[in-house]
Amino acid sequence: MSDYYNSHDEAPAGDAGRPDTEHGMTRRQLLRHAGWFGGAVVLTVASGEVISHIADSRGTNAGAAAAAAADIGALRFVQVSDSHIGFQGPANMDVAGSFTEAINQVNSLGFRPDFVMHSGDLTHLSTTGQFDQVRQMMTGMQTDRVFTVPGEHDSIGDAGRAYRRIFGMGTLGDGWYSFDTHGVHFIALVNTLSLEKLGHLGNDQIDFVRKDLAGLSSDTPIVVFSHIPLFAMYPQWGWSTDDALKVIALLRRFSSVTCLNGHVHQLFTKTDGNITFHSATTTAYPLPKPGRAPAPTPQVVPARQLKEALGIRSVGYRQGDRELAVKDQRLA
Ligand SMILES: [Fe+2]
Ligand SMILES: [Fe+2]
Repeated sequence: MSDYYNSHDEAPAGDAGRPDTEHGMTRRQLLRHAGWFGGAVVLTVASGEVISHIADSRGTNAGAAAAAAADIGALRFVQVSDSHIGFQGPANMDVAGSFTEAINQVNSLGFRPDFVMHSGDLTHLSTTGQFDQVRQMMTGMQTDRVFTVPGEHDSIGDAGRAYRRIFGMGTLGDGWYSFDTHGVHFIALVNTLSLEKLGHLGNDQIDFVRKDLAGLSSDTPIVVFSHIPLFAMYPQWGWSTDDALKVIALLRRFSSVTCLNGHVHQLFTKTDGNITFHSATTTAYPLPKPGRAPAPTPQVVPARQLKEALGIRSVGYRQGDRELAVKDQRLA
């Protein structure tokens, strides 16, 4: 697994022209997500903060990535994915331990992320105990805000109701939402609710995206989170979203779009015009590469190899940059 980056300086990104608060997040959006961390949301940015450590800075644009991350006032957030709390099997005998390591790594990045996004499969079997455990664990992340999107493992048997009771406060429809910060517009989508039809958004959600994007200028950087990829990574295994092209069509007019997903438990990047897709790895267990096994089942690998397959992702953005700097790190 290698680290990779995307960052360069080009056309300045304009402001969304939305009713922003001090650092771009509307009060309503903040309140929406203040709930389950007991209202501990504090709007602070990096002013005065010294970036002491950008871990493991290798890659073609490492300098630019580090510069973006170190810039005072730059946006820095973290993506973790597929913690599968409750999983028991030889592919990882201690997923809670791995997720704890991932949280510790987030807390050791050398900067305080503006937010952390967990991109789904928080739990393995959607039980109340597993939801409570993962929620409790995530309170240990040193960040002001934690966002989530559901994975199909968080929607077992109840179309995501238990998930939304804990993580869906203030969201719309089946749990989707959007927010703005640091000049970037973020959209969090739900494409996992039907186990019969995995990778599906539905017309209500696509209408939401249409209205959500309508007022934005085309130079607003857009980040879209979903659990299942919005591109056809491997449809035979459910690694695609059958109606994603309707959303992709709405995103085409924007000069910079970054789609971040989980579900496939491995790094993968694909660029399609103005849109870059980044599949994230997991904190739990690896899945096979597309088509290299009869089915996408947990892979048992030697302990050292397991460590190398697991990781976290940090993302930096400096206002005016064209692209976000995406950096993947294996668990230390
Ligand atoms: Fe998963
Ligand atoms: Fe998944």
